Amino acid sequence: MDTFKHQKSRSSGDKNTKSRKNPKHFTDVHGLPCIEKIVTSVEDIPEPISTNIIGMIPNWINGNFLRNGPGKFEMGNHRFNHWFDGMALLHQFKISNGEVTYRSRFLSSDSYQTNKEQNRIVMSEFGTLTMPDPCKNFFQRFVSRFELPKPTDNANVSFVTYKGDFYVSTETNIMHKVDPETLEAIQKVDWSKFIAVNGATAHPHTEPDGTVYNMGNSYSSKGAYYNIIKVPPTKVAEEETLEGTTVLCSIPAEDKTKPSYYHSFAMSENYVVFIEQPIKMDLLKIVTGKLTRKSISDGFSWNPKLNTILHLIHKLTGKVSSIKYLAKPISTFHQINAYEEDGFLIIDLCASDDGQAIANYNIQNLRKSGEALDEVFCTHEDLHGEDLHKYGGLEFPQINYSKYNMHPYHYFYGCGFRHLVGDTLLKMDIRRKEMKVWEHPSLYPSEPIFVPCPYATEEDDGIILSVIITPNKDKSTFLLVLDAKTFKELGRAVVPVNIPYGFHGTFSSTA
Ligand SMILES: [Fe+2]
Repeated sequence: MDTFKHQKSRSSGDKNTKSRKNPKHFTDVHGLPCIEKIVTSVEDIPEPISTNIIGMIPNWINGNFLRNGPGKFEMGNHRFNHWFDGMALLHQFKISNGEVTYRSRFLSSDSYQTNKEQNRIVMSEFGTLTMPDPCKNFFQRFVSRFELPKPTDNANVSFVTYKGDFYVSTETNIMHKVDPETLEAIQKVDWSKFIAVNGATAHPHTEPDGTVYNMGNSYSSKGAYYNIIKVPPTKVAEEETLEGTTVLCSIPAEDKTKPSYYHSFAMSENYVVFIEQPIKMDLLKIVTGKLTRKSISDGFSWNPKLNTILHLIHKLTGKVSSIKYLAKPISTFHQINAYEEDGFLIIDLCASDDGQAIANYNIQNLRKSGEALDEVFCTHEDLHGEDLHKYGGLEFPQINYSKYNMHPYHYFYGCGFRHLVGDTLLKMDIRRKEMKVWEHPSLYPSEPIFVPCPYATEEDDGIILSVIITPNKDKSTFLLVLDAKTFKELGRAVVPVNIPYGFHGTFSSTA
């Protein structure tokens, strides 16, 4: 269930920005002829193939650049309704001594295997509802429509690490542990076997010692709860997965039957910050979806009459701040950074003040002083200049995470979105509100990942990795390597296959 996340936003206060399409239009690839290849199914390539290096890949980069995203958009004659529903295709760019190899593998999830065996879509995904088996009689079909939607294990959103192991994740209770070398799925891991949650986000936060925080919902007769999850940093036994995981605290949803959707959360040195935004999930609609023939995505709605509520949870004690921090209605999917400075808690995020129209993105900076009031209204400032609007807004934010997450920082990187997928790479200097841009017509970059160089002394000493999709050319996708400081190209590794546009990735150093 990974919806709206990279597309749904509008810039606040900019009357010149044009609304983009309704998210439902996003599923209609036929309306996007120029980038249709981005959502065209491909074959996987489980054995590594070599790439053609143009320019120079620095010798100090050694490791696996791992990415995740949908790669198969139909099963038999059935087509998924939503881009986010495509079957997870895992990618590996292995970088070693200036050379790069590429491989990919479909995640052998239950969803993938069952769909493949039956040559049709059997498992419901976020925006795709399976139809009852035509072989079932009327009564069986009627009953099956009352069933709760079975959570998908098609973990197509991100690569994450827990206790030093790699997992692929979506937002349901099922993740898959994956071998980062072969991309093979090793083990299916169910959050609900360890703690009472129905899922967890695909965007956990990691402490320098390896402790991981995440969030997940739980539902009971008392209503919906948001849970803060803490996973220990190391394994006691080799075969361990999420053993020792605890729920740090549970926060009741403001509206018990309509909890807010959240795609990620923020974390500072002392606090987890949960942003309860006015994108609501109507649990009744979702549960009765089979009867009413609605998909899970139909149960989502934006309520601009509601404020955004920011919950501060103390990481050490698990206590939720008694102060109610409010902000105007915003929709946010990805947080950039959060830190404490001079009595302020500063949260930087990609946000919009409209949860319905897809339009330009705005980077907002929510600030709040620690006054002892019961209710405090937070204000924001833009982290960018007017020039961002030329690039349509920004998403897929990334920073020099290992050194600057939870700390004051200068730079973040992201994709500009003038189209439905990223079409520029941006480097934002948030102190000067200036940016650098990498842009080439008809080239569509993925989420930029920052890799620090050895002996780095400055925040942007390192490189940016991004996979560039070339829908107008056949078999010429490439891995782009930019100097993070200058934002100039150092080199590229051209892959002789087509690769669909993906979501999130990570770099695993083997140096
Ligand atoms: Fe995401």
